[in-house]
Amino acid sequence: TLTQAEKAAVVAIWEKVATHANAIGAESLERLFSGFPQTKTYFPHFDLSQGSAQLHGHGSKVLSAIGEATKNIDNITGALATLSELHAYILRVDPVNFKLLSHCILCSLAAHFPNDFTPEVHAALDKFLSQISSVLTEKYR
Ligand code: HEM
Repeated sequence: TLTQAEKAAVVAIWEKVATHANAIGAESLERLFSGFPQTKTYFPHFDLSQGSAQLHGHGSKVLSAIGEATKNIDNITGALATLSELHAYILRVDPVNFKLLSHCILCSLAAHFPNDFTPEVHAALDKFLSQISSVLTEKYR
């Protein structure tokens, strides 16, 4: 679990992220689909070309779900319960893909906020995204 300092670091950077959620979300997905093309198989019904409306729309949904988790940082399981069921029972996303997406989100955040992305903030975000991934994959067990 995150320390109080780590929680504070995540909440602080997310205040900046929230105003660019659309762009950062789309960039994270672009990095996911270009770096790890096997992840595209979950989105056969999407136009995944760079800058597409669907990429932006979905990127913004993913980032705002993470934003909800920052607002409920002491109860991430509760905040993401519906999404957890969706990913496990309906979408059946292989858990390995959550690590890949988390990595791509970190890269996008580092690129957008180079001054804020200190080693401490990096580590806090990494822990936070791992926690989100655990919540979204825990229903598989
Ligand atoms: C849908 C969040 C990881 C595949 C969604 C939605 C959200 C979301 C908010 C929209 C739900 C709705 O419309 O009600 C997240 C978060 C993730 C994550 C926060 C981890 C940080 C992944 C991964 C994959 C994936 C790793 C696969 C590579 C999908 C698919 C949909 C979806 C296929 C349905 C898209 C559609 O048809 O509209 N996700 N997701 N998700 N997610 Fe995720």
